Amino acid sequence: MKQLIKVDIKKVKADFTERKTDLLVVGMFEGDKGTEKQYSKLNNQLKNGISRLIKLGDFKGKLKSTALIYGTDKSAADRVLLVGLGDKKKFEPDNLRQAAAVAASKAVELKAKKSVFAIHHGIGNKCDAQQAGQVIAEGIYFGSYRYDEYVTKEENGRSKKLSVEIAENKSSVLTKLGKGMTVGGIIGEAQSYARTLSNRPANVINPPELAKEARKLARQIPGLTCTVFNKSKLKQKKMGGVLAVGSGSASEPRFIVLRYNPRSGKGKAPTVCLVGKAITFDSGGISIKPSSGMQDMKLDKSGGISVLGAMRAIAKLKPKVKVFGIIPSAENMPSGTSYRPGDIVTTYSGKTVEVHNTDAEGRMVLIDGIHYATEQKPDAIVDIATLTGACMVALGKHKAGLMGSDDKLIEQIKQASELSGEKVWQLPCGEEYLEDMKSKIADLKNVGGKWGGACTAAAFLRNFAGKCKWAHIDMAGVDMFEGGKAGQAPGSSGFGVRLLSSFVLNTAGKTAKKK
Ligand code: BES
Ligand code: ZN
Ligand code: ZN
Repeated sequence: MKQLIKVDIKKVKADFTERKTDLLVVGMFEGDKGTEKQYSKLNNQLKNGISRLIKLGDFKGKLKSTALIYGTDKSAADRVLLVGLGDKKKFEPDNLRQAAAVAASKAVELKAKKSVFAIHHGIGNKCDAQQAGQVIAEGIYFGSYRYDEYVTKEENGRSKKLSVEIAENKSSVLTKLGKGMTVGGIIGEAQSYARTLSNRPANVINPPELAKEARKLARQIPGLTCTVFNKSKLKQKKMGGVLAVGSGSASEPRFIVLRYNPRSGKGKAPTVCLVGKAITFDSGGISIKPSSGMQDMKLDKSGGISVLGAMRAIAKLKPKVKVFGIIPSAENMPSGTSYRPGDIVTTYSGKTVEVHNTDAEGRMVLIDGIHYATEQKPDAIVDIATLTGACMVALGKHKAGLMGSDDKLIEQIKQASELSGEKVWQLPCGEEYLEDMKSKIADLKNVGGKWGGACTAAAFLRNFAGKCKWAHIDMAGVDMFEGGKAGQAPGSSGFGVRLLSSFVLNTAGKTAKKK
């Protein structure tokens, strides 16, 4: 199998206009003329190449737009890529991340040998250097990502490695940039790891294989441990939801638990449980899906894999938070042994669920995961899942649905969303939605009525969180890119890795202290 692109990001103390490179990347806002202080030396080297380009209207600084200028005998760079940072007044750090992603994608296309990134120079005090370092590193990983491990063709192959230097002359700024780059590099790498696992097809990744990956990860990272429940353990623990969904598949279901324990320090660390749906393939089961687009249902494991990716980043960054990564995994298939519409399933919590549609399987596995989470007595439970087509209808492909039982926790996820650039939008999931989920012959049924499918699904999950503070992220609309957009390689988006990491690193600790 082919190795995916390796990313190498270094900081260098240098004047970016003096650094020898085959690709220099410079960020510019709308309205910049190219003659401003930070660009003037480069513009001179390029014989006014930047200012002429802008004057002609060929580059307007629009977010994620690019223009390529060839170097001169005066410039240290063979090529200069201008990348748009958008409207200066509307600047947010995520714009820098997106610009870095587009530039990194171009660097891959151009097969640049050693790129120099100087996109933070124009932003002034709009964002501090540490944050800039982080978002640029995350963006570089994100934009350079390509999934082609099964493409055997090698001729004219893309470069195996992307080497980037982030150039800065001022020591104090460079130090801060470097700190951010370390964090961003770890999170970016974890996100690419998650994208690759999600992109792997269902004949390669089934629940036992996913469990092996989780075990491997725990072996590699100190401070991370992994426990896996196999089918007989699931039976012993009476995890009826996971067992029911997995019953139709030749691959057995698994319940994966990763644990990260911070080194003991002063005060009690808060506990967070992250729960992710990992259906390695969702055919719909007996309530089978239409064939068109079914291939994308290999991505139905993405929530669980976001949790895996976040655990990887968290265990490397070592925050003072105890974190459980809980990943119930099954393959949803139709067969003679499948669970059926009409079946009544006794779930791990003891509550019974009447199955009305075997395609509403995500919630069946999640409720066992959420109930298991409550047993850890956490300060917060956050679940993430490609749960409903309804969420995708409601919000489209730009934002994930956010629901929950606690306003403070919701606020923290929103904050993490701002920091990570992984967008969420709050939807309701109150008592009124639960009415739809009541069964006549069991405690609950697994589908509601025709309307508000994302909300009724969330209300169903909420029932299993007990008294714990709980939030739910429905990522059905944002799990994949179609391709064709710069910096967004087709396939898994890796959504959730940055959001969950950011939640645990920046906000989860604050919850417990305020209590
Ligand atoms: N995995 C799907 C949801 C999904 C749809 C994810 C599109 C990504 C893209 C989920 O298991 C499902 O099939 N949900 C059903 C629920 C319904 C039967 C109540 C749906 O949304 O149609
Ligand atoms: Zn389904
Ligand atoms: Zn599903």
